[in-house]
Amino acid sequence: NLLAGGAKPLAGRKAVVTSGPTHEPIDPVRYIANRSSGKQGHAIAAALARLGADVTLVSGPVTIPDPTGVNVIHVERAEEMRDAVLAALPADVAVMVAAVADWRVASAAGNKIKKKPGEAPPPLQLAENPDILKTVGHHANRPKLVVGFAAETENVADNGRSKLERKGADYILANDVSPATGIMGGDRNRVKLISADGNDDWPEMDKEAVAEKLAALIAAELERREQ
Ligand code: CTP
Ligand code: CA
Repeated sequence: NLLAGGAKPLAGRKAVVTSGPTHEPIDPVRYIANRSSGKQGHAIAAALARLGADVTLVSGPVTIPDPTGVNVIHVERAEEMRDAVLAALPADVAVMVAAVADWRVASAAGNKIKKKPGEAPPPLQLAENPDILKTVGHHANRPKLVVGFAAETENVADNGRSKLERKGADYILANDVSPATGIMGGDRNRVKLISADGNDDWPEMDKEAVAEKLAALIAAELERREQ
C-alpha cells in the first residue's frame, strides 16, 4: 500500500473544496437553503489534507467543526461562495460538494418583513444563483481535476452524466438522496462515480471512507496525468 506510513502523494498540490449549504437571505432573519450537513465535503477536505494537499475549504453555514489542517473560509450566500472559490484558484483540484441554493431572493429586504393582518403573504421573486462547479469547470484557470456531486432522487446515472458534461467536470459522484435511502444528513453514503471512462458503483460506506477513496483516486489521477 503506497499510502501506508503516512505517504503524502498530494504534497505540493493545491485543492479547493466547497461544503455545506448556502443560505440566501429573504430579510435579515429569514433565508432559503438546501439541506446539507457538510459532513461529506468536510471529510473530503480533511482527507485531501491528510495526503499532503494545501486545502482551502469554502463552507456554507454548518454545525460541524472545521476540519483540522485545512484553511477554512466561512461564507453564507452562493455569490460569496463563488467569489471565495475563484479567489482560491489556481488549484490542482476542485471538489464542489456544497448543496448550493439554486435560487436567491432577487432583492432581499433590508429590514424584517412584518406580517400584515388580513394581507396576502409576500411573493418571493427569485433569481438564479451562479453555478460554481460549471464556472470552475469552464474557467481559464481550470484546475487539472474538477469533481462535482449530483444529488438526485431519480434517474441517478443519467442525471449525473448530463451534469458531468454540462458542468465540464472530470468526475461526478452521483448519489440517490431520496428520503427512503436515509443518506441525507446521515454518516453513510452510496455514490456512483461517473467519468469519461464509464460508471463505477461504490458500495455504501461511511462518508469518511468515501472521502478517503476519492482523495486516493485524485492523487492517483494527478500522478497519472503527469506520466
Ligand atoms: N453546484 C454549484 N453551484 C450551483 C449549483 C450546483 O457549484 N449553483 C454544484 C454542486 O456543488 C454539485 C453539482 O453542482 O457539485 C451538482 O449540484 P446539483 O444541485 O445536483 O445540480 P444542479 O446543476 O443544481 O441541478 P438540479 O439541482 O436542478 O438537479
Ligand atoms: Ca441544485
